This record gives sequence, structure tokens and C-alpha cells, in this order.
Amino acid sequence: MAKKPYRLAVSNQKGGVGKSTIALNVAGAMSERDAETLLVDLDPQGYLTSGVGLDDEYTAPSPNLNDALKSPSEHKVDDLVISHDEFDVLPANIDMFSLEQELVSGMRGRERLSMLLEDLDGYDFMVVDCPPSLGLLTDNALLACQNVLIPAEAEDTSIRAVELLFKQIDSLEDNFGTAIQEEALVVSNVDYPLDGEQKEMLEWFDETFSENIPVFEIRNRAAIKRAFNAGVSIFGHDEECDQTDELLRIADYFEQERGQR
Ligand SMILES: Nc1ncnc2c1ncn2[C@@H]1O[C@H](COP(=O)(O)OP(=O)(O)O)[C@@H](O)[C@H]1O
Ligand SMILES: [Mg+2]
Repeated sequence: MAKKPYRLAVSNQKGGVGKSTIALNVAGAMSERDAETLLVDLDPQGYLTSGVGLDDEYTAPSPNLNDALKSPSEHKVDDLVISHDEFDVLPANIDMFSLEQELVSGMRGRERLSMLLEDLDGYDFMVVDCPPSLGLLTDNALLACQNVLIPAEAEDTSIRAVELLFKQIDSLEDNFGTAIQEEALVVSNVDYPLDGEQKEMLEWFDETFSENIPVFEIRNRAAIKRAFNAGVSIFGHDEECDQTDELLRIADYFEQERGQR
């Protein structure tokens, strides 16, 4: 029997820390390594969905991801998946803005994404881009994936952000009797030459995490931004970029993690 897909939540409740960029480019790197990959946009703001050129899906009427998350058993999630040159995409929908309120009062409101992704076959990886908050959508991603990739900027505000995320993960583990692994940290958007704050933070990440999980580093590159705006990862872009090696190292690390299960 084929292995179950390895699911990965890309999460940090701070906005603008590189979640969507990392999600897109890690999915691109996985596809570059010939892994069948699904990219899921769970952010109601839909930046990733628009980024990969799916504005029409973002504003599409029912049925869309919002409906599927509202009533998983009534929708075939396969029908919502769109193919992209590099990987498949499960696009966000603008209606998801009011979804969290409904999930609070609904049955198993934190397990809806789990139920949906269960029904999708044929993938090696599913990469879920989280919204910039620790609300029910993020809880859905953490519980559905149980593996977390944390992008964080080399800024001192990242310390609290990461601590809060870890606390949330602990509380979900307690309440749901499940294990959620913090798998890797990616310091995103690093700008050389380093200033004092970046230097200190890179040291802090290293001291705090590298004994337990790998700490990767993706630098600030205009090409990464241009690729996003062109609707593709850096691997689908016709431009050289010196960050592809690190992205492939991230993909290889997750391939290894997938193999170990
Ligand atoms: N490695 C990078 N190089 C250049 N720009 C980046 C890089 N990572 C993120 N950015 C830019 O930083 C901004 C925030 O990134 P984004 O991925 O949207 O963060 P989030 O999803 O956490 O809100 C975007 O404008 C994005 O283009
Ligand atoms: Mg984002």
C-alpha cells in the first residue's frame, strides 16, 4: 500500500514572516525532487492562492474550501484541487474570513482539515500555509499535519512568537491526546551583511533549537519575490538563485522524515 502523505503545516502567527513564501518554495523544492505535492492555502487572505494565479478560485462561489471545511462529509475535496505546473493547489476562498466563528461552535471544529485531507490520495507531501493567527484555522492545520515547519525572521519579536506557537502546540497535544512535532525552523528573509539584531537572533535560534531540530536559513532575494509574483516557486522561474540549494536541503530533510515513518 502506498505510504500516507507526509503533511506539513507552515506556521507562525506573526504576519509577514515568510510563511507563504516558504510554503511555496518548499513545495517547489519537493516537486523538483519528483515528489507528488499538494499546496494548501488555509489563510483567508489568500495571498498564496492569488500568488499562484488562482484569483478566480479565491472569489469562486460554492462549492469551495470554505464549504468543504464547514461540512467535510458533504464535499469531495478532490473536486476543489487545481493543478499547477509544479504541484497541485487547494486554494483558499474569500468566504473563509467568517469560518473561524462557525468552527468555534461546530462539532469537531478543529479537525475539519484532517477529515478533508484524509480523502486525498496520491501525494507524497501536503504543505499547508497557515493564516497569521493562532485561531481555529491554525489549530486545524496543526492537528491535520502533526508536523510543523516554523518560518521566523531574525528579529527579536520572533522569540515571543515562537514561544506562543509552542505553547499552542502543547495545549493541542494535551487536549487531543496527540503528538505534534516541531520539525524544523527556517530563518526567513535574512539580509546580509547581518546587523547586530540579526546576528543575535541567528545565535539564539541556533542555541535554542539546533540540538533538537534543524535550523535552515533562506536569504532575502529579489528573485524569490519575482517568482512568487509570477505564480511559481524559484524552481519554476527562469532565473538563477543561490537559495535553491538550501531549499533542496529542506526538501531532502522532509523526504528523509517521510521515509522514517
Ligand atoms: N526570502 C525572501 N526574499 C525576498 N522577499 C521575501 C522573502 N521571504 C519573504 N519575502 C517577502 O516578505 C513579505 C512577507 O512574506 P510572506 O511569505 O507573505 O509572509 P507571511 O505569509 O508570513 O505573511 C512578502 O512581501 C514576501 O515577498
Ligand atoms: Mg502568508
